Amino acid sequence: MTSGGDAPGMNAAIRAVIRTSVGKGWEAFGVRNGFAGLVGGTFTPMGSRDVSEIMQRGGTILGSARAPQFAEENVRRQALHHLAANGIEALVVIGGNGSQTGAHALSAMGFPVVGIASTIDNDLYGSDVTLGVDTALNIALEAIDRLKVTASSHQRAFLVEVMGRDCGYLALMAGIAGGAEAIVIPEVDVHPDKIAEEVRAAHDRGKPHVLIVVAEGARCSGEALKEYMIENRSRVGFQFRLTILGHVQRGGTPTFADRMLGTRLGAAAVEQIAKGNTGILTGLQGGQISTTPLSEVVVRKKPLDMSLLELAGVLAV
Ligand code: F6P
Repeated sequence: MTSGGDAPGMNAAIRAVIRTSVGKGWEAFGVRNGFAGLVGGTFTPMGSRDVSEIMQRGGTILGSARAPQFAEENVRRQALHHLAANGIEALVVIGGNGSQTGAHALSAMGFPVVGIASTIDNDLYGSDVTLGVDTALNIALEAIDRLKVTASSHQRAFLVEVMGRDCGYLALMAGIAGGAEAIVIPEVDVHPDKIAEEVRAAHDRGKPHVLIVVAEGARCSGEALKEYMIENRSRVGFQFRLTILGHVQRGGTPTFADRMLGTRLGAAAVEQIAKGNTGILTGLQGGQISTTPLSEVVVRKKPLDMSLLELAGVLAV
């Protein structure tokens, strides 16, 4: 089952789950549209040929959904009923924080569940990197590189707002690799005045353009920053434009890294089920496959490496 926001690499994970299961002589099913399909009992038998030629496709062939109703126990009981009625003995949930919370709730009711760390936000505890992040970052970088060309040609400043919900990871990484002059993230509260000072300083150092990456969850949104900079046009020295990347970051063709990660995590999830090790999340830690209890995943927060924000500041001179 895939759940929550789609992430490039989900199809590689589905393919690996199905083929590793088939290889063990098990019967495999796909759940349609996340927890909604689980509650509705929408299961499709899937074999090796059903997952041919899907690895290179973005999104998820199973469909996905956000399903807040899964927080209710009677709704989860309905899902358990359908699983039992179809003779299904274990479930793999490919998704991020909300999805792994649902997975944990089901596991706590006694059903064997294994999670696969998947979200472009990279905000899930239990995996250094989650499925979809690499592709999303590469899409953001392509946009940043293009915007810099126009910024330079017109001696302008550009604000680029990237996704990430409450987490600044995408903005921080895209900002560093895209050579941004400033990065605004939810983890650090910054007044627009301070950004304006940095923009002015960049102008006075002779920079032909300025690029600022803003995380969508930052206290000061891309829109608010744009308004502030326009109001302070003469002080900051640059004309400002804002580009909000939004869902453009989610639907791309998965990169090599995401295809590999999906493949490794998909196979690992099935191996854990075979060992009877369930109620866990499969992820990647220190380059190796890791498992973390879902009970820990749902309560702990993955910290952002703040030294990288300092590095971004050092390199922006
Ligand atoms: O969690 C992935 C994500 O793309 C976030 O970065 C973003 O805030 C959210 O999903 C958007 O959700 P939706 O697709 O439901 O609008």
